Amino acid sequence: MNSNPSPAAVPAHVAIIMDGNGRWAKSRGLPRLEGHRRGAGVAQDVVRWAADAGVKQISLYAFSTENWERPHDEVTGLMTLLATMLTMQVPAMKKEGVRLRVLGDVSALPRLAHQAVQHALRATAKGERIELVLCLNYGGQQEILAGARRLAQSFRAGEISEEALDSMSPADFRRLLWRDDLLPVDLLIRTGGEYRISNFHLWDAAYAELYFSPEFWPDYSREAFHQALVGYQRRERRFGLTSEQLHAEVSSPHE
Ligand code: FPP
Repeated sequence: MNSNPSPAAVPAHVAIIMDGNGRWAKSRGLPRLEGHRRGAGVAQDVVRWAADAGVKQISLYAFSTENWERPHDEVTGLMTLLATMLTMQVPAMKKEGVRLRVLGDVSALPRLAHQAVQHALRATAKGERIELVLCLNYGGQQEILAGARRLAQSFRAGEISEEALDSMSPADFRRLLWRDDLLPVDLLIRTGGEYRISNFHLWDAAYAELYFSPEFWPDYSREAFHQALVGYQRRERRFGLTSEQLHAEVSSPHE
């Protein structure tokens, strides 16, 4: 089967839940952290595969707001891995035109991880080929709640009128979230064979195409990533409309 995605209709923003590191390690009798280590290597690879395919933003779910509840050693190990990998990867990211961004409350990260993130953000600020959105201490419900709080504060402060509140659209509300300058997620991939969104990109998940892959994250390959892109290209994104409406709009001689 030809699994090369066509350059047309490449999703602009691909988001990935990199699941299965623990099970990958367990199935080999290795510590969970070894799975994360392997997974971090694949995270580097997938950014390159995405850039080569023409993807503009790739967001990777590296640590959720719920992951703090994991065993202390695993949390510490993940934070150390993050700090080490990010620091090591800065030269390659610069060379490949990768610009780092973060989604989530990084101020709560341990000092070393926080410093590594800040350094990588500054060092890669000029990257223009692809944006890597590292989701760290991120939760979709927390993001929406923060948006609601911001709105309530603006209302209390008299910065927004009752009429404006009543006529607010989802697009207006999205601007209050942490994604005002993120492209909408087009394709959301989850590896590891589970069928959940796990509090990732909840707002944009409304119309993202979902793609579930059976491989554990450390086994994820360029071929599997291309299959997801090809799968995306075969879908019809209707955004609540009918197929007939979409085709009529495409072929209508308005302009
Ligand atoms: C989910 O697998 C994975 C995570 C919670 C962490 C993902 C982190 C990495 C791949 C390292 C990221 C580092 C960088 C620098 C990007 P799991 O542990 O839930 O696996 P399981 O479901 O098999 O237990």
